[in-house]
Amino acid sequence: MDEIDTPTPAGVTAYLAAEGYVTELIEELGQVQTVHDRLVLAPGPARPAAWAANIWIEPLRIPIASIGEGAKALRAIQRNWALYSFDHHRRAALIEAKLPPIRPKPVVFPSPLPAAPLGSWTLLDPNTILAAPRCSSPFRHGEVAFEEDKSGPPNRAYLKLWDVFTRLQTMPAPGDTCVDLGASPGGWSWVLAKLGARVLAVDKAPLDPKIARLPLVEVRQESAFGLDLRSIGTVDWLFSDVICYPARLLRLVRQWLEAGAARNFVCTIKFQGDTDHETARAFAAIPGSQLMHLHHNKHELTWIKLA
Ligand SMILES: C[S@@+](CC[C@H](N)C(=O)[O-])C[C@H]1O[C@@H](n2cnc3c(N)ncnc32)[C@H](O)[C@@H]1O
Repeated sequence: MDEIDTPTPAGVTAYLAAEGYVTELIEELGQVQTVHDRLVLAPGPARPAAWAANIWIEPLRIPIASIGEGAKALRAIQRNWALYSFDHHRRAALIEAKLPPIRPKPVVFPSPLPAAPLGSWTLLDPNTILAAPRCSSPFRHGEVAFEEDKSGPPNRAYLKLWDVFTRLQTMPAPGDTCVDLGASPGGWSWVLAKLGARVLAVDKAPLDPKIARLPLVEVRQESAFGLDLRSIGTVDWLFSDVICYPARLLRLVRQWLEAGAARNFVCTIKFQGDTDHETARAFAAIPGSQLMHLHHNKHELTWIKLA
């Protein structure tokens, strides 16, 4: 019978970069130890990292002498494991084939988070597994795969809001008031109206007529930066997906915060050219808020502040 070596703490945290944003993650983390494609190992305990799709918390180093031993060692820890393979693909796939299958069904929005813990693992070399039973996301590689709606929304931007609401397990309730800045063509307004919230959709461009006609949607075709906050009063949620420089969005958000004009915020920070890490840090430093890269975000981060 195979004797399994005892797993030992790896003494690092592993950060899986959002696809295409390894450089941003490395710049954000500062000090890193090793980079294996999207998997960045950095010293110290897990810390917030907006450009990480998933953070492997307190990973273990498991020496293995065979494929069977690798699978046995993982199964001895827990049932569910997601493989991230950057090398030794065939050997990793053979180990994976000996683990209980994970076949997540597409997530139907809204849904609760998966209850069963999902660990992540990789082969650092043919004889060493790096495995974290606990990760920051309950989804494989931090990606929520939704059952998409191909007919209701005018574009796929709605998936970002579904993602935020699913991760945080909070969303506008029926009757809540929302302002949706940069709303055109109307994917976000569609999500909010479907939840039964009242939406003031603001954009210089027109909304898709199908969305503009929704009974809970009121349209203002004007700039998000010229709104008179006093005329709007305090709303339950402020959403912004406006295309603008991050520093301009930060000034706008500060105005809303100082005026006490919204209780909850979900705003996309869009980068052009080099990533403006300084402004990203200024957003992250706003008390009680968080910054994340959603699976459907491009070169952008989502800043969230809940009441
Ligand atoms: C990425 S799109 C928004 C997509 C939208 N969230 C959806 O779900 O369909 C960005 C929008 O920002 C709008 N925009 C750019 N500058 C603006 C401004 N100053 N005021 C309002 N909207 C602006 C653009 O017209 C564009 O419709």
